[in-house]
Amino acid sequence: MSLLDRHTILEKNATLLLAGSFVVVTIGGLVEIAPLFYLENVIEEVEGVRPYSPLELTGREIYIREGCYVCHSQMIRPMRDEVERYGHYSLAAESMYDHPFQWGSKRTGPDLARVGGRYSDAWHVQHLTDPQSVVPESVMPPYGFLATRLIEPTYVADLMETHAMVGVPYTEEMIAEARADFTVQVDPFGDWDALVERYPGAQVRDFDGAPGISEMDALIAYLQMLGTLVDFSTFVPDASR
Ligand code: HEC
Repeated sequence: MSLLDRHTILEKNATLLLAGSFVVVTIGGLVEIAPLFYLENVIEEVEGVRPYSPLELTGREIYIREGCYVCHSQMIRPMRDEVERYGHYSLAAESMYDHPFQWGSKRTGPDLARVGGRYSDAWHVQHLTDPQSVVPESVMPPYGFLATRLIEPTYVADLMETHAMVGVPYTEEMIAEARADFTVQVDPFGDWDALVERYPGAQVRDFDGAPGISEMDALIAYLQMLGTLVDFSTFVPDASR
C-alpha cells in the first residue's frame, strides 16, 4: 500500500480526518505560541522610543475623543507603496506605549504614523481649522473649536498613573512633575531642560501660535512627534527575534 493510498483512508473518514487535523493544528499552535510565554518581552526594544510627555498624551486623548482614528490609521505596512509614501514601516516598539493602540482599520485620510515634522505647526492650525482651505477636495471635518478651548493640566497626572497601571514606565518623578512639564512644553522661554531630559526629543514651542494652552496646542504637539522618536538613519532591525 503506497503512502498516497494510506492517505485515502484518512480522507474518506471524516472523524479520523478531524482528529488528525486537530493533532496537526495543536502541534503547530504549540510551536508558534508556547515560546512567547517564555520571552520576557515580545516587542523588540528600540532606541528612542519613550512614553508620551504630559502635553503629547493630552493631545492623544483629544485625537481619540474626536475620533480621528475613524479616518486615519497609524500603521505603515512593510510594503513598497506604503514605505515610499509614508516612510519607514512602523515598528511594534513605536506603539508599545499606546493604550489603546491607534493602528486604525480605515484610511479615509492618509496614514499619520509619521506625520510628525512633515508640515509646519501653522499648516496644522490652518488645516485643522479649515481643511478645505489647504486641500480643496478634502472630506475632513473642521476642528477650529480646538483653538478656543483652553486646557489646564488638572487631571494629567491621573491620566499618566492610569497608563502606568497598564505598563507604561512613567516614574514617580514624571508623575510628580506632570503639571509643570505640561505647561513648560508650550513655553520656549521657560525652564524646559528637565522636561527634555525626562522626555528626550520633546519639542518645546507655542504650537498654535496663540496665547494660552489650548486643545489645539496639545493635538499639534502630539501630531508633530508621531513617528519621530526612532532615528532610522542608524536603526538596524534585530534579526535574531
Ligand atoms: C471624515 C474623515 C476624517 C476625519 C474624522 C479626520 N480626518 Fe484628517 N484627513 C482626512 C482626509 C480625507 C485627509 C486628506 C485631505 C486633507 O489633507 O485634508 C486628511 C488629512 C489629514 C492630515 C494631513 C495628512 C497628510 O499626510 O497630508 C492630518 C495631519 C489630519 N488629517 C489629522 C486629523 C486629525 C488630528 C483628526 C481628528 C481631530 C482628523 N484628521 C480627522 C479625513 C479625516
